[in-house]
Amino acid sequence: MPNNSRHTILIVDDTPLNIVVLMEMLRNEYTITVATNGERALQLAGGCSPPDLILMDIVMPGLSGYDVCATLKQNPLTAHIPLIFVSGLTKESEQQKGLDLGAVDFIQKPFSPSLVRARIRNHLELKRHHDQLEALVKERTSELEAKQLQLVALNEELEHRVQDEVRKNREKDSIMLHQDKLASIGQLAAGVAHEINNPMSFILSNLSTLRKYAVMIQQYVFAMEETLIDGCAEKQRAKIEEMCQHLDMHYILEDLPNLISECLEGGERIKQIVLDLKDFARSDEDRMIATDLNHCVQSTVNIVRNEIMHVAKLDLQLGSIPVVVCNPQQINQVIANLLVNAAHAIEGHGRITVCTVHELDHVLVTVADTGHGIPAEIINRIFDPFFTTKDIGKGTGLGLSISYGIIKAHGGDITLKSEPGEGTTFMIRLPVAAPAFFSLMTD
Ligand SMILES: Nc1ncnc2c1ncn2[C@@H]1O[C@H](COP(=O)(O)OP(=O)(O)OP(=O)(O)O)[C@@H](O)[C@H]1O
Ligand SMILES: [Mg+2]
Repeated sequence: MPNNSRHTILIVDDTPLNIVVLMEMLRNEYTITVATNGERALQLAGGCSPPDLILMDIVMPGLSGYDVCATLKQNPLTAHIPLIFVSGLTKESEQQKGLDLGAVDFIQKPFSPSLVRARIRNHLELKRHHDQLEALVKERTSELEAKQLQLVALNEELEHRVQDEVRKNREKDSIMLHQDKLASIGQLAAGVAHEINNPMSFILSNLSTLRKYAVMIQQYVFAMEETLIDGCAEKQRAKIEEMCQHLDMHYILEDLPNLISECLEGGERIKQIVLDLKDFARSDEDRMIATDLNHCVQSTVNIVRNEIMHVAKLDLQLGSIPVVVCNPQQINQVIANLLVNAAHAIEGHGRITVCTVHELDHVLVTVADTGHGIPAEIINRIFDPFFTTKDIGKGTGLGLSISYGIIKAHGGDITLKSEPGEGTTFMIRLPVAAPAFFSLMTD
Protein backbone atom coordinates (compact mmCIF):
# COMPACT_ATOMS: atom_id res chain seq x y z
CA MET A 1 0.00 0.00 0.00
CA PRO A 2 1.51 3.40 -0.93
CA ASN A 3 2.51 5.51 2.02
CA ASN A 4 0.08 8.34 1.36
CA SER A 5 -2.93 6.01 1.53
CA ARG A 6 -1.85 4.14 4.62
CA HIS A 7 -4.42 4.05 7.36
CA THR A 8 -3.57 5.48 10.75
CA ILE A 9 -4.25 3.43 13.85
CA LEU A 10 -4.32 4.94 17.31
CA ILE A 11 -3.22 2.53 20.05
CA VAL A 12 -4.38 3.49 23.52
CA ASP A 13 -2.82 1.52 26.38
CA ASP A 14 -1.14 2.37 29.66
CA THR A 15 1.18 -0.67 29.46
CA PRO A 16 4.24 0.07 27.25
CA LEU A 17 4.78 -3.63 26.54
CA ASN A 18 1.27 -4.00 25.08
CA ILE A 19 1.88 -1.00 22.89
CA VAL A 20 5.18 -2.42 21.61
CA VAL A 21 3.57 -5.78 20.79
CA LEU A 22 0.74 -4.17 18.85
CA MET A 23 3.09 -1.75 17.07
CA GLU A 24 5.35 -4.58 15.96
CA MET A 25 2.35 -6.40 14.64
CA LEU A 26 0.92 -3.50 12.66
CA ARG A 27 3.60 -1.00 11.69
CA ASN A 28 4.39 -2.59 8.33
CA GLU A 29 0.86 -2.09 7.19
CA TYR A 30 -0.30 1.03 9.06
CA THR A 31 0.86 4.33 10.44
CA ILE A 32 0.71 4.11 14.21
CA THR A 33 0.06 6.80 16.79
CA VAL A 34 0.06 6.11 20.48
CA ALA A 35 -1.62 7.39 23.63
CA THR A 36 -0.83 6.03 27.07
CA ASN A 37 -3.94 7.47 28.75
CA GLY A 38 -7.55 8.37 27.98
CA GLU A 39 -7.09 12.17 27.97
CA ARG A 40 -4.34 12.01 25.36
CA ALA A 41 -6.42 9.58 23.30
CA LEU A 42 -9.30 12.11 23.21
CA GLN A 43 -6.88 14.85 22.12
CA LEU A 44 -5.43 12.78 19.27
CA ALA A 45 -8.80 11.47 18.08
CA GLY A 46 -10.34 14.96 18.01
CA GLY A 47 -7.24 16.60 16.51
CA CYS A 48 -6.55 17.79 12.99
CA SER A 49 -5.54 14.35 11.68
CA PRO A 50 -7.81 11.86 13.37
CA PRO A 51 -7.00 8.13 13.16
CA ASP A 52 -8.88 5.71 10.91
CA LEU A 53 -9.27 3.17 13.71
CA ILE A 54 -8.64 3.02 17.47
CA LEU A 55 -7.40 0.06 19.49
CA MET A 56 -8.34 0.78 23.08
CA ASP A 57 -7.40 -0.78 26.41
CA ILE A 58 -10.14 -0.66 29.08
CA VAL A 59 -8.48 -0.57 32.44
CA MET A 60 -6.27 2.51 32.62
CA PRO A 61 -5.49 5.07 35.34
CA GLY A 62 -7.67 8.23 34.95
CA LEU A 63 -10.26 7.83 32.19
CA SER A 64 -11.11 4.19 31.47
CA GLY A 65 -11.43 2.86 27.95
CA TYR A 66 -15.22 2.86 28.43
CA ASP A 67 -15.17 6.58 29.37
CA VAL A 68 -13.07 7.46 26.36
CA CYS A 69 -15.30 5.40 24.07
CA ALA A 70 -18.48 7.06 25.40
CA THR A 71 -16.99 10.55 24.92
CA LEU A 72 -15.79 9.78 21.40
CA LYS A 73 -19.19 8.43 20.35
CA GLN A 74 -20.97 11.55 21.63
CA ASN A 75 -18.80 13.85 19.54
CA PRO A 76 -20.03 14.03 15.90
CA LEU A 77 -16.45 14.64 14.75
CA THR A 78 -15.15 11.37 16.25
CA ALA A 79 -18.27 9.19 16.47
CA HIS A 80 -17.59 7.58 13.08
CA ILE A 81 -14.05 6.31 13.98
CA PRO A 82 -14.25 2.52 14.48
CA LEU A 83 -13.05 1.60 17.96
CA ILE A 84 -11.96 -1.90 19.01
CA PHE A 85 -11.47 -2.73 22.62
CA VAL A 86 -8.33 -4.83 23.29
CA SER A 87 -8.56 -6.05 26.87
CA GLY A 88 -7.80 -8.82 29.31
CA LEU A 89 -11.30 -8.53 30.79
CA THR A 90 -13.04 -11.77 30.21
CA LYS A 91 -16.60 -11.42 31.45
CA GLU A 92 -19.27 -11.43 28.82
CA SER A 93 -20.98 -8.43 30.51
CA GLU A 94 -17.77 -6.41 30.22
CA GLN A 95 -17.51 -7.17 26.51
CA GLN A 96 -21.20 -6.41 26.12
CA LYS A 97 -20.75 -3.02 27.83
CA GLY A 98 -17.97 -2.09 25.40
CA LEU A 99 -20.07 -2.97 22.37
CA ASP A 100 -23.09 -1.15 23.84
CA LEU A 101 -20.99 2.01 24.16
CA GLY A 102 -20.42 1.93 20.41
CA ALA A 103 -17.24 -0.13 19.94
CA VAL A 104 -17.26 -2.16 16.72
CA ASP A 105 -15.39 -5.13 18.20
CA PHE A 106 -13.81 -6.63 21.28
CA ILE A 107 -10.48 -8.51 21.12
CA GLN A 108 -9.51 -10.45 24.15
CA LYS A 109 -5.93 -10.66 25.39
CA PRO A 110 -3.92 -12.70 24.82
CA PHE A 111 -4.69 -12.47 21.12
CA SER A 112 -3.49 -14.03 17.92
CA PRO A 113 -1.73 -11.44 15.72
CA SER A 114 -3.27 -12.74 12.55
CA LEU A 115 -6.76 -12.52 14.07
CA VAL A 116 -6.12 -8.92 15.17
CA ARG A 117 -4.84 -7.99 11.70
CA ALA A 118 -7.82 -9.66 10.02
CA ARG A 119 -10.33 -7.91 12.25
CA ILE A 120 -8.64 -4.53 11.77
CA ARG A 121 -8.64 -5.05 8.00
CA ASN A 122 -12.32 -5.98 8.04
CA HIS A 123 -13.33 -2.96 10.09
CA LEU A 124 -11.28 -0.63 7.96
CA GLU A 125 -12.91 -2.09 4.89
CA LEU A 126 -16.31 -1.68 6.48
CA LYS A 127 -15.46 1.91 7.34
CA ARG A 128 -14.35 2.54 3.76
CA HIS A 129 -17.69 1.27 2.50
CA HIS A 130 -19.50 3.27 5.12
CA ASP A 131 -17.56 6.43 4.19
CA GLN A 132 -18.22 5.87 0.49
CA LEU A 133 -21.88 5.37 1.17
CA GLU A 134 -22.02 8.47 3.29
CA ALA A 135 -20.24 10.50 0.60
CA LEU A 136 -22.68 9.14 -1.96
CA VAL A 137 -25.65 9.96 0.25
CA LYS A 138 -24.23 13.46 0.81
CA GLU A 139 -23.71 13.94 -2.90
CA ARG A 140 -27.20 12.70 -3.71
CA THR A 141 -28.69 14.79 -0.94
CA SER A 142 -27.04 17.94 -2.23
CA GLU A 143 -28.10 17.02 -5.77
CA LEU A 144 -31.64 16.54 -4.52
CA GLU A 145 -31.49 19.81 -2.63
CA ALA A 146 -30.29 21.60 -5.75
CA LYS A 147 -33.07 19.94 -7.76
CA GLN A 148 -35.58 20.92 -5.12
CA LEU A 149 -34.39 24.52 -5.26
CA GLN A 150 -34.72 24.40 -9.04
CA LEU A 151 -38.20 22.98 -8.66
CA VAL A 152 -39.20 25.68 -6.19
CA ALA A 153 -37.86 28.35 -8.58
CA LEU A 154 -39.62 26.70 -11.51
CA ASN A 155 -42.80 26.47 -9.53
CA GLU A 156 -42.62 30.13 -8.63
CA GLU A 157 -41.96 31.05 -12.25
CA LEU A 158 -44.91 28.90 -13.36
CA GLU A 159 -47.14 30.51 -10.77
CA HIS A 160 -46.10 33.95 -11.99
CA ARG A 161 -46.75 32.93 -15.57
CA VAL A 162 -50.18 31.55 -14.72
CA GLN A 163 -51.05 34.72 -12.80
CA ASP A 164 -49.74 36.78 -15.71
CA GLU A 165 -51.84 34.82 -18.20
CA VAL A 166 -54.93 35.07 -16.01
CA ARG A 167 -54.40 38.84 -15.70
CA LYS A 168 -53.83 39.21 -19.46
CA ASN A 169 -56.95 37.16 -20.22
CA ARG A 170 -58.99 39.24 -17.83
CA GLU A 171 -57.69 42.38 -19.49
CA LYS A 172 -58.43 40.97 -22.94
CA ASP A 173 -61.97 40.06 -21.83
CA SER A 174 -62.58 43.54 -20.46
CA ILE A 175 -61.18 45.18 -23.60
CA MET A 176 -63.36 42.98 -25.80
CA LEU A 177 -66.36 43.72 -23.63
CA HIS A 178 -65.61 47.43 -23.89
CA GLN A 179 -65.24 47.21 -27.66
CA ASP A 180 -68.42 45.16 -27.98
CA LYS A 181 -70.18 47.80 -25.92
CA LEU A 182 -68.85 50.54 -28.17
CA ALA A 183 -69.83 48.59 -31.26
CA SER A 184 -73.38 48.07 -30.01
CA ILE A 185 -73.60 51.72 -28.98
CA GLY A 186 -72.51 52.51 -32.54
CA GLN A 187 -75.22 50.27 -33.99
CA LEU A 188 -77.81 51.73 -31.67
CA ALA A 189 -76.72 55.26 -32.58
CA ALA A 190 -76.89 54.43 -36.28
CA GLY A 191 -80.37 52.93 -35.82
CA VAL A 192 -81.64 55.92 -33.85
CA ALA A 193 -80.07 58.28 -36.38
CA HIS A 194 -81.89 56.53 -39.18
CA GLU A 195 -85.21 56.69 -37.30
CA ILE A 196 -84.79 60.39 -36.58
CA ASN A 197 -83.77 61.18 -40.12
CA ASN A 198 -87.09 60.33 -41.77
CA PRO A 199 -89.45 62.47 -39.65
CA MET A 200 -86.76 65.17 -39.56
CA SER A 201 -86.81 65.39 -43.33
CA PHE A 202 -90.52 66.14 -43.56
CA ILE A 203 -90.41 68.43 -40.52
CA LEU A 204 -87.73 70.49 -42.26
CA SER A 205 -89.52 70.45 -45.58
CA ASN A 206 -92.81 71.51 -43.95
CA LEU A 207 -91.08 74.22 -41.93
CA SER A 208 -89.57 75.73 -44.99
CA THR A 209 -93.00 75.76 -46.71
CA LEU A 210 -94.49 77.16 -43.50
CA ARG A 211 -92.00 80.01 -43.55
CA LYS A 212 -93.06 80.94 -47.08
CA TYR A 213 -96.73 80.73 -45.99
CA ALA A 214 -96.04 82.86 -42.94
CA VAL A 215 -94.62 85.63 -45.09
CA MET A 216 -97.62 85.39 -47.39
CA ILE A 217 -100.07 85.43 -44.45
CA GLN A 218 -98.21 88.40 -43.06
CA GLN A 219 -98.55 90.31 -46.33
CA TYR A 220 -102.16 89.30 -46.70
CA VAL A 221 -103.17 90.29 -43.15
CA PHE A 222 -101.42 93.66 -43.39
CA ALA A 223 -103.20 94.35 -46.69
CA MET A 224 -106.54 93.21 -45.26
CA GLU A 225 -106.05 95.35 -42.23
CA GLU A 226 -105.42 98.44 -44.32
CA THR A 227 -108.43 97.76 -46.55
CA LEU A 228 -110.70 96.96 -43.64
CA ILE A 229 -109.70 99.89 -41.55
CA ASP A 230 -110.09 102.30 -44.49
CA GLY A 231 -113.57 101.06 -45.34
CA CYS A 232 -114.87 100.47 -41.85
CA ALA A 233 -117.13 102.37 -39.58
CA GLU A 234 -115.45 104.08 -36.64
CA LYS A 235 -116.80 101.61 -34.14
CA GLN A 236 -115.65 98.54 -36.06
CA ARG A 237 -112.24 100.08 -36.74
CA ALA A 238 -111.80 100.74 -33.04
CA LYS A 239 -112.75 97.16 -32.28
CA ILE A 240 -110.26 95.76 -34.84
CA GLU A 241 -107.49 98.01 -33.57
CA GLU A 242 -108.23 97.05 -29.98
CA MET A 243 -108.16 93.39 -30.85
CA CYS A 244 -105.00 93.85 -32.87
CA GLN A 245 -103.32 95.57 -29.94
CA HIS A 246 -104.68 93.14 -27.41
CA LEU A 247 -103.33 90.14 -29.34
CA ASP A 248 -100.14 91.98 -30.28
CA MET A 249 -100.92 90.93 -33.80
CA HIS A 250 -98.30 93.06 -35.52
CA TYR A 251 -95.59 91.62 -33.37
CA ILE A 252 -96.87 88.07 -33.94
CA LEU A 253 -97.01 88.51 -37.66
CA GLU A 254 -93.51 89.96 -37.77
CA ASP A 255 -92.14 87.32 -35.42
CA LEU A 256 -93.78 84.38 -37.14
CA PRO A 257 -91.26 83.98 -40.00
CA ASN A 258 -88.38 84.47 -37.53
CA LEU A 259 -89.70 81.72 -35.27
CA ILE A 260 -90.07 79.38 -38.19
CA SER A 261 -86.55 80.28 -39.36
CA GLU A 262 -85.16 79.45 -35.93
CA CYS A 263 -87.06 76.15 -35.96
CA LEU A 264 -85.59 75.45 -39.35
CA GLU A 265 -82.09 76.25 -38.06
CA GLY A 266 -82.61 73.97 -35.04
CA GLY A 267 -83.95 71.27 -37.30
CA GLU A 268 -80.97 71.61 -39.62
CA ARG A 269 -78.68 71.26 -36.61
CA ILE A 270 -80.47 68.13 -35.47
CA LYS A 271 -80.15 66.78 -38.97
CA GLN A 272 -76.43 67.52 -38.97
CA ILE A 273 -75.92 65.93 -35.54
CA VAL A 274 -77.78 62.85 -36.69
CA LEU A 275 -75.63 62.70 -39.82
CA ASP A 276 -72.46 63.11 -37.74
CA LEU A 277 -73.61 60.45 -35.32
CA LYS A 278 -74.24 58.13 -38.21
CA ASP A 279 -70.90 59.02 -39.66
CA PHE A 280 -69.15 58.53 -36.36
CA ALA A 281 -70.73 55.19 -35.62
CA ARG A 282 -70.44 53.96 -39.22
CA SER A 283 -71.72 50.58 -38.10
CA ASP A 284 -72.15 49.69 -41.76
CA GLU A 285 -68.44 50.34 -42.26
CA ASP A 286 -66.85 48.23 -39.59
CA ARG A 287 -64.18 47.09 -42.04
CA MET A 288 -61.09 48.34 -43.80
CA ILE A 289 -61.95 50.87 -46.49
CA ALA A 290 -60.25 53.80 -48.18
CA THR A 291 -61.00 56.68 -45.84
CA ASP A 292 -60.52 60.42 -45.69
CA LEU A 293 -59.10 61.03 -42.22
CA ASN A 294 -60.11 64.71 -42.38
CA HIS A 295 -63.68 63.54 -42.64
CA CYS A 296 -63.15 61.27 -39.60
CA VAL A 297 -61.79 64.21 -37.62
CA GLN A 298 -64.70 66.46 -38.62
CA SER A 299 -67.46 64.04 -37.74
CA THR A 300 -65.78 63.01 -34.49
CA VAL A 301 -65.24 66.61 -33.47
CA ASN A 302 -68.95 67.26 -33.98
CA ILE A 303 -69.80 64.35 -31.73
CA VAL A 304 -67.51 65.31 -28.85
CA ARG A 305 -67.92 69.07 -29.32
CA ASN A 306 -69.98 69.25 -26.16
CA GLU A 307 -67.12 67.87 -24.05
CA ILE A 308 -64.72 70.36 -25.58
CA MET A 309 -66.51 73.64 -26.09
CA HIS A 310 -66.74 74.61 -22.42
CA VAL A 311 -63.04 74.07 -21.73
CA ALA A 312 -61.16 74.78 -24.93
CA LYS A 313 -61.06 76.58 -28.21
CA LEU A 314 -60.79 74.02 -30.94
CA ASP A 315 -58.37 74.67 -33.76
CA LEU A 316 -58.59 72.35 -36.77
CA GLN A 317 -55.67 72.47 -39.16
CA LEU A 318 -56.64 69.82 -41.66
CA GLY A 319 -54.12 69.52 -44.44
CA SER A 320 -54.35 68.04 -47.87
CA ILE A 321 -53.91 64.32 -47.25
CA PRO A 322 -54.32 61.16 -49.27
CA VAL A 323 -56.88 58.56 -48.27
CA VAL A 324 -55.72 55.81 -45.96
CA VAL A 325 -57.07 52.31 -45.74
CA CYS A 326 -58.55 51.91 -42.30
CA ASN A 327 -61.58 50.93 -40.30
CA PRO A 328 -63.18 54.39 -39.97
CA GLN A 329 -65.34 53.35 -37.05
CA GLN A 330 -62.28 52.38 -35.05
CA ILE A 331 -60.24 55.42 -36.09
CA ASN A 332 -63.13 57.65 -35.02
CA GLN A 333 -63.02 55.94 -31.65
CA VAL A 334 -59.31 56.70 -31.30
CA ILE A 335 -59.72 60.38 -32.27
CA ALA A 336 -62.70 60.71 -29.91
CA ASN A 337 -60.70 59.28 -27.01
CA LEU A 338 -57.75 61.61 -27.67
CA LEU A 339 -60.08 64.63 -27.88
CA VAL A 340 -61.93 63.73 -24.68
CA ASN A 341 -58.64 63.05 -22.87
CA ALA A 342 -57.35 66.43 -24.05
CA ALA A 343 -60.49 68.18 -22.81
CA HIS A 344 -60.25 66.42 -19.45
CA ALA A 345 -56.62 67.52 -19.07
CA ILE A 346 -57.45 71.21 -19.40
CA GLU A 347 -58.03 73.11 -16.20
CA GLY A 348 -59.89 76.38 -16.77
CA HIS A 349 -59.82 77.24 -20.46
CA GLY A 350 -57.29 76.17 -23.05
CA ARG A 351 -56.80 75.17 -26.64
CA ILE A 352 -57.02 71.87 -28.49
CA THR A 353 -55.40 71.70 -31.89
CA VAL A 354 -55.98 68.87 -34.34
CA CYS A 355 -53.71 68.71 -37.38
CA THR A 356 -53.53 66.32 -40.29
CA VAL A 357 -50.41 66.22 -42.45
CA HIS A 358 -49.17 64.05 -45.30
CA GLU A 359 -45.65 62.79 -44.55
CA LEU A 360 -44.00 60.48 -47.10
CA ASP A 361 -45.71 57.11 -46.79
CA HIS A 362 -48.07 57.97 -43.95
CA VAL A 363 -50.61 60.44 -42.70
CA LEU A 364 -49.91 62.10 -39.37
CA VAL A 365 -52.80 63.12 -37.13
CA THR A 366 -51.86 65.15 -34.05
CA VAL A 367 -54.09 66.08 -31.15
CA ALA A 368 -52.43 68.71 -28.97
CA ASP A 369 -53.76 70.29 -25.81
CA THR A 370 -52.68 72.97 -23.39
CA GLY A 371 -53.65 70.81 -20.42
CA HIS A 372 -51.78 69.82 -17.27
CA GLY A 373 -49.49 67.40 -19.09
CA ILE A 374 -48.43 63.92 -17.97
CA PRO A 375 -45.92 63.51 -15.12
CA ALA A 376 -42.75 61.61 -16.12
CA GLU A 377 -43.38 58.90 -13.52
CA ILE A 378 -46.64 57.73 -15.15
CA ILE A 379 -45.90 58.39 -18.81
CA ASN A 380 -44.85 54.75 -19.36
CA ARG A 381 -48.09 53.45 -17.91
CA ILE A 382 -50.77 55.44 -19.72
CA PHE A 383 -51.19 52.81 -22.45
CA ASP A 384 -51.64 50.05 -19.85
CA PRO A 385 -55.17 48.68 -19.66
CA PHE A 386 -57.07 50.10 -16.68
CA PHE A 387 -54.47 52.76 -15.94
CA THR A 388 -56.35 55.92 -15.09
CA THR A 389 -55.77 58.96 -12.94
CA LYS A 390 -59.43 59.87 -13.14
CA ASP A 391 -61.93 59.43 -10.34
CA ILE A 392 -63.86 56.19 -10.07
CA GLY A 393 -66.68 56.26 -12.60
CA LYS A 394 -65.02 59.00 -14.68
CA GLY A 395 -62.48 56.88 -16.51
CA THR A 396 -62.07 53.18 -17.13
CA GLY A 397 -58.44 53.56 -18.17
CA LEU A 398 -59.14 51.56 -21.33
CA GLY A 399 -59.28 54.41 -23.86
CA LEU A 400 -55.57 54.62 -24.67
CA SER A 401 -54.91 50.89 -24.50
CA ILE A 402 -57.72 50.24 -26.98
CA SER A 403 -56.50 53.14 -29.15
CA TYR A 404 -52.99 51.69 -29.09
CA GLY A 405 -54.31 48.27 -30.13
CA ILE A 406 -56.35 49.79 -32.98
CA ILE A 407 -53.46 51.85 -34.38
CA LYS A 408 -51.03 48.93 -34.13
CA ALA A 409 -53.54 46.66 -35.89
CA HIS A 410 -53.57 49.22 -38.71
CA GLY A 411 -49.80 48.97 -39.05
CA GLY A 412 -49.41 52.47 -37.67
CA ASP A 413 -48.07 53.91 -34.47
CA ILE A 414 -49.15 56.21 -31.71
CA THR A 415 -46.65 58.31 -29.77
CA LEU A 416 -46.76 61.35 -27.55
CA LYS A 417 -44.79 64.14 -26.03
CA SER A 418 -45.84 65.86 -22.89
CA GLU A 419 -44.56 68.74 -20.83
CA PRO A 420 -46.06 68.88 -17.32
CA GLY A 421 -47.82 72.21 -16.91
CA GLU A 422 -47.60 72.96 -20.64
CA GLY A 423 -49.64 70.31 -22.42
CA THR A 424 -49.58 67.06 -24.34
CA THR A 425 -49.48 66.11 -28.00
CA PHE A 426 -50.51 62.68 -29.25
CA MET A 427 -49.30 61.69 -32.71
CA ILE A 428 -50.93 58.97 -34.80
CA ARG A 429 -49.25 57.75 -37.95
CA LEU A 430 -51.25 55.64 -40.39
CA PRO A 431 -49.73 54.22 -43.54
CA VAL A 432 -50.97 55.53 -46.85
CA ALA A 433 -52.43 52.65 -48.82
CA ALA A 434 -50.27 51.14 -51.49
CA PRO A 435 -51.63 51.83 -55.02
CA ALA A 436 -52.01 48.07 -55.44
CA PHE A 437 -54.72 48.13 -52.79
CA PHE A 438 -56.84 50.59 -54.76
CA SER A 439 -56.50 48.64 -57.98
CA LEU A 440 -57.66 45.60 -56.01
CA MET A 441 -60.61 47.56 -54.69
CA THR A 442 -61.70 48.79 -58.13
CA ASP A 443 -61.13 45.46 -59.91
N1 LIG B 1 -54.01 64.55 -23.05
C1 LIG B 1 -53.72 64.10 -21.83
N2 LIG B 1 -53.20 64.92 -20.88
C2 LIG B 1 -52.89 64.46 -19.65
N3 LIG B 1 -53.05 63.17 -19.25
C3 LIG B 1 -53.55 62.31 -20.16
C4 LIG B 1 -53.90 62.71 -21.48
N4 LIG B 1 -54.35 61.62 -22.14
C5 LIG B 1 -54.28 60.59 -21.27
N5 LIG B 1 -53.81 61.00 -20.07
C6 LIG B 1 -53.57 60.15 -18.88
O1 LIG B 1 -53.62 58.81 -19.28
C7 LIG B 1 -54.60 58.10 -18.50
C8 LIG B 1 -55.16 56.97 -19.33
O2 LIG B 1 -55.95 57.47 -20.40
P1 LIG B 1 -57.07 56.56 -21.02
O3 LIG B 1 -57.73 57.29 -22.11
O4 LIG B 1 -56.51 55.22 -21.31
O5 LIG B 1 -58.06 56.31 -19.81
P2 LIG B 1 -59.03 57.37 -19.12
O6 LIG B 1 -59.18 58.60 -19.98
O7 LIG B 1 -58.54 57.59 -17.74
O8 LIG B 1 -60.39 56.58 -19.06
P3 LIG B 1 -61.31 56.15 -20.34
O9 LIG B 1 -61.21 54.66 -20.37
O10 LIG B 1 -62.65 56.63 -19.98
O11 LIG B 1 -60.73 56.76 -21.56
C9 LIG B 1 -55.58 59.15 -18.08
O12 LIG B 1 -56.27 58.78 -16.90
C10 LIG B 1 -54.65 60.35 -17.83
O13 LIG B 1 -54.01 60.27 -16.59
MG1 LIG C 1 -59.66 58.35 -22.10
